Amino acid sequence: MKLAVVGTGYVGLVTGTCFAETGNQVTCVDIDERKVGKLNNGIVPIYEPGLETLFHRNVEEGRLTFTTDLEEGIKGAEVIFLALPTPPGEDGSADLKYILKVASDLGPILSQYAVIVDKSTVPVGTAEKVHAHIADNAKVDFDVVSNPEFLREGVAVEDFMKPDRVVIGTKSDRAKAVMNRLYAPLVRQGNPVIFMDERSAEMTKYAANAFLATKITFMNEIANLCERAGANVDDIRRGIGTDSRIGKRFLFAGIGYGGSCFPKDVQALAKTAKDFDYDFKVLKSVMEVNYEQKTKLMPLILNHFGGDLKGKTIAVWGLAFKPYTDDIREAPALDNIKALIDAGAKVTVYDPEAMDNVREQIGNAVTYAHTQYAALDDADALVIITEWPLFRTPDFDKMNLLLKNKVIFDGRNVYELDQMIEQNYTYYSVGREPIM
Ligand code: UGA
Repeated sequence: MKLAVVGTGYVGLVTGTCFAETGNQVTCVDIDERKVGKLNNGIVPIYEPGLETLFHRNVEEGRLTFTTDLEEGIKGAEVIFLALPTPPGEDGSADLKYILKVASDLGPILSQYAVIVDKSTVPVGTAEKVHAHIADNAKVDFDVVSNPEFLREGVAVEDFMKPDRVVIGTKSDRAKAVMNRLYAPLVRQGNPVIFMDERSAEMTKYAANAFLATKITFMNEIANLCERAGANVDDIRRGIGTDSRIGKRFLFAGIGYGGSCFPKDVQALAKTAKDFDYDFKVLKSVMEVNYEQKTKLMPLILNHFGGDLKGKTIAVWGLAFKPYTDDIREAPALDNIKALIDAGAKVTVYDPEAMDNVREQIGNAVTYAHTQYAALDDADALVIITEWPLFRTPDFDKMNLLLKNKVIFDGRNVYELDQMIEQNYTYYSVGREPIM
């Protein structure tokens, strides 16, 4: 099939590349000339495991091309994906200006029936708006379909190629047939393509992210209670996660969720509820708890050092909002670094992927170490913010020589308590008793 993908951000690039990999002819369109220039020169602007290999293969074999020209890009396309940014406005609602602008531009240049697909996470009712904007100037038949993505950063290619399910919102049989054909290679193992109306598909995306954010937040509150009640949140996780109704995944307590999706989507769903005059109380609590959770280690750190961090150097391991990404959007690391500096500390940081992004945002406010061990040199304590596998099995002998004090504040429960007792560390983690 011939496809166009408008917007070469994270979602657009993964979608375009993966659909080229299943044999389609894909043209990606973006207004950013520099970005398209880079892509045409074989440079993948994001870090996503597995993407480069697929990207290069499909570019070389001529199935994946890039242009800044919308009309040229959509020529002959049976399906046109809109993968455009929806930044949160001041009131938390998603700003649709980019999507609706492209929709208006598409109307007059569509020359044959096409399925226009909303891939971006957009509020309920957006497909209808997109339809109206295209219809204003369209000369041919078209359908607008909502097809939300459920890709996790870091495993996006795998999530795309082996989806748990594909959700498609449309009432048009013609569009259903096109989408079924497109997704057939990805759902061969029987994973369902679930058809529903546009509004339900749009809501499904928010419900999925808000539910997962709630699941994490619930565990974070259980962890906070465990600390007070002398229980161990890891045991609780194992104890409840084995109940198939609850499930093992997304039960890891820590210092809060971050990223470009959960915080934005929980906020946007709360705004949608408000627009429909519904008081969605759970979502309000989720936002409040997560905000507080991000810096929950700070009182422990301050208390350990007698209320003040002047003259102290704190090493921070992990800056990305989660492992396997360089993304620092809404990352707890930023809140913690700020709080540490405000308390008077010198901060030295290490992350395998995200240091350039942090440098761009906060410059020389912190020292950037070349390795995880270099970050510990002369540090008074180590704070772990992101659970990169690299941090799980460190060389403790090396650490002991570098750290001034054997103190770890672990926001992701990277180590077992027994291990810390054996290594003779003072160890604070989340939802477990401190080891003194
Ligand atoms: C999330 C969803 O998982 C995807 O399905 C969705 O498509 C995507 O948002 C999106 O809307 O585009 P992502 O933001 O990449 O994906 O990251 P997740 O792996 O879901 O992690 C989100 C946050 O939750 C991270 O900060 C992570 O550290 C935290 N988390 C996750 C926990 O604190 N505990 C857990 O048990 C799991």
